[in-house]
Amino acid sequence: MLLHVETVLTPDQVAHCRRLLADQHWVDGKVTAGQQSAQAKRNLQVPGDAPAARELGDLILGALGRNPAFVSAALPLRVFPPLFNRYDAGMAFDTHVDNAIRFAGPVRFRTDLSATLFLTDPDEYDGGELIVEDAYGEHAVKLPAGDMILYPASSLHRVAPITRGSRWAAFFWAQSMVRSDEQRTLLWNLDNAIQALTVNVGQTDPDVVSLAGTYNNLLRMWAEV
Ligand code: NI
Repeated sequence: MLLHVETVLTPDQVAHCRRLLADQHWVDGKVTAGQQSAQAKRNLQVPGDAPAARELGDLILGALGRNPAFVSAALPLRVFPPLFNRYDAGMAFDTHVDNAIRFAGPVRFRTDLSATLFLTDPDEYDGGELIVEDAYGEHAVKLPAGDMILYPASSLHRVAPITRGSRWAAFFWAQSMVRSDEQRTLLWNLDNAIQALTVNVGQTDPDVVSLAGTYNNLLRMWAEV
């Protein structure tokens, strides 16, 4: 599932991120790439251990924890501390798949989901679309600052070359309690239907209670915690 999550960060939070990031020392993005993707990657990143990266990463993790769409769609078990990248004119990231396993300090985890949280608006740069491939073809994604795209980490994807301006983003991975994208998508659709029904007929309606029970029992069957 490819999911657009709107307004993960408010305009004020985006402005705060950009102020802090503007003062950072940006390094070659190959530092966090795997062997194959290092060949494909031409961008800049803020080192993951920079205090500003940690402060802004915590801001984003807090916002994600309060975001019902992210929690329902990702069913997160662990979220990798967000990193920050930047593509200036001429930079790009050719087609690749993200590493399956990542380390956050001593913690090793599986990347089930990849996420890009845009920190610049589409009119600030040309090119720079995130292009994700799936069974239905290619999807070009370019979102307003503060919005995020969530997609299966197993997808082939790339960032199109920037031809004007600069594209700034936060990116991270999550290990889900539910490994399968297909199962997560079913749970997401079911949860949305239950939420809508709850508004229409109330939480205590016997059919809502039954569907909520089914949701929980599917999650119990599929979740690894
Ligand atoms: Ni990638």
